[in-house]
Amino acid sequence: MRVAITRGVSPAIGACELTLLEREAIDIDNARAQHSLYEGILEELGCRVEHLDEEPGFPDSVFVEDIAVVLDEIAVITRPGALSRRGERASIERALVPHRPLKHIQAPGILDGGDVMVVAKSIYVGLSTRSNAEAARQLGGLVASHGYRVMKVGFSGCLHLKSAVTAVSDDTLLINPEWVDASAFPEHSCIHVDPAEPRAANVVRIGNAVLFAAEFPQTGERLSALGYDARPVEASELAKAEGALTCCSLIFEVP
Ligand code: GLY
Repeated sequence: MRVAITRGVSPAIGACELTLLEREAIDIDNARAQHSLYEGILEELGCRVEHLDEEPGFPDSVFVEDIAVVLDEIAVITRPGALSRRGERASIERALVPHRPLKHIQAPGILDGGDVMVVAKSIYVGLSTRSNAEAARQLGGLVASHGYRVMKVGFSGCLHLKSAVTAVSDDTLLINPEWVDASAFPEHSCIHVDPAEPRAANVVRIGNAVLFAAEFPQTGERLSALGYDARPVEASELAKAEGALTCCSLIFEVP
């Protein structure tokens, strides 16, 4: 059984953090409609969606991925790099307590889950404005006894590592080579996004299905042509808040 933790779009989403994008108006009804479709697709793919209440005080709180790294054995509560997001942790902790023993990143570590890519027993931590080497060191210490290896990765051009690269299988990554160097992932094969779609590397893998943002059809076609069960998901409204598909859920197995 798979669980997907999600959270409703905050009525304050218009005041979200922005790092690289210019602020533009977010249509909250459209954001909510697209988010509901996303949750519906997760359910179709067999996830039990645990939908948390909106947090009016936390504009970015729909992006639950940043607040925890959920492994089979433990969940690590992050210390988000943006001060405005630290208060999102309490409700995510409550949601994860029934499912996993919790560990925590401590100051001076900062970590956003969007910078953490878990591929089998390899964990890549992108060093960014939101995540630092100290957090990567702490994470390494928390997961070593469970057989994981943590590696630091440099990247540029986007807010989080997982905008530049995500896994489509345990062997293969989808990557924008302009933003992160494939040599950082010597154990994995890499599929490149279509060069006209630099933001397309963020996909959600659920079983054999790969959800890609519908705005990036050429990358979707690349995945389909390679035999992946690639499925488009409308995500354009929350993209204005610098959020991508993986940002909107914490997906993990439960007994
Ligand atoms: N707006 C997404 C973030 O900055 O975390």
